[in-house]
Amino acid sequence: MTLKTITMHWTGDSLILIDQRKLPHVVENVVCRTFEEVAQAIKEMVVRGAPAIGAAAAFGYVLGAKQFSQLKGEKLLQAMRTVHDTIAGTRPTAVNLFWALKRMHEKFLSYQNGDFITVLEKEALKIAQEDIETNKAIGRHGQTLLKDGDKVLTHCNAGALATVDYGTALGIIRSAVENGKKLTVYVDETRPYLQGARLTAWEMVQLGVETILICDNMAGWVMKQGKIDAVIVGADRIASNGDVANKIGTYTLAVLANRHGIPFYVAAPTSTIDLSIKDGSQIPIEERSHTEVTHVAGLRIAAEGVKVYNPAFDVTEHELVSAIITEKGIVRPPYEVNLKKIMGVEA
Ligand code: MRU
Repeated sequence: MTLKTITMHWTGDSLILIDQRKLPHVVENVVCRTFEEVAQAIKEMVVRGAPAIGAAAAFGYVLGAKQFSQLKGEKLLQAMRTVHDTIAGTRPTAVNLFWALKRMHEKFLSYQNGDFITVLEKEALKIAQEDIETNKAIGRHGQTLLKDGDKVLTHCNAGALATVDYGTALGIIRSAVENGKKLTVYVDETRPYLQGARLTAWEMVQLGVETILICDNMAGWVMKQGKIDAVIVGADRIASNGDVANKIGTYTLAVLANRHGIPFYVAAPTSTIDLSIKDGSQIPIEERSHTEVTHVAGLRIAAEGVKVYNPAFDVTEHELVSAIITEKGIVRPPYEVNLKKIMGVEA
């Protein structure tokens, strides 16, 4: 049982990841043969983007099960708890990581006395294949919001590389293009990690879409000049009330879009919706290394001795979100009610 996309390749006994730290200049793979190697790849952002992290975690869990397949009973249970916790301890914000690991661990608990390796491998492949179908459905729903000739601004990378394939926010752009609409995509470079400049621009140029790269601090002026018809971003976690955690800088864009009367859309699978939390204040925000801010491509740009603050995500209040586009359809306010409805949960 194998699966191969641009982002990841499951061979049956290893997970091969395109090294997103090196794109677009160097196209190189990282081979993970153990759950520890998958955990390290997630932490170091070889693989990143909420849905891609979820799927990689599921395959990492399978590798862990293979490593411990000789154990029995309590020892096996303990080992699989360690696999779960090690992978879960890598990045705190994207809920898809915990969602996928929960799904895998529950499968393990039901089949621990049987052929759990086969069951777990099937489940991980199901998570990965579902993700591709989900993204295509997000694309189909979302593209109805765009007209031929629209100019769309996006932030970070919510494309094929951030998912198993096809992408969420970029999946909508892809679907619109497949439906014959000509779009222009403005891409925020997305400091400090430059996912926009390095990854989104790479994906969009390959797709043949007119792509214009801007520095993050240009977005307001570009909007004021009437150059943007819609903003579309991905999400790492969406709270019950519709508050959205996404890449740092998303909140700024939402405020700017509101100021200029531009629709602000969030594209995400329902696995990104966390109904266990009331609002965005409960979403843990990852802080990353100071060197991401003091250095660009390994070169120091800031004075020695300067202090740094580097939150990797921010939270956009639901009032600023025009719609949330999921695989099950487009959700509009009031999110408190409509997110529960789409998740099939009684209000
Ligand atoms: O730190 P990253 O690169 O993992 O952050 C990625 C984002 O913020 C994406 O917008 C989000 O995960 C959605 S990806 C479909």
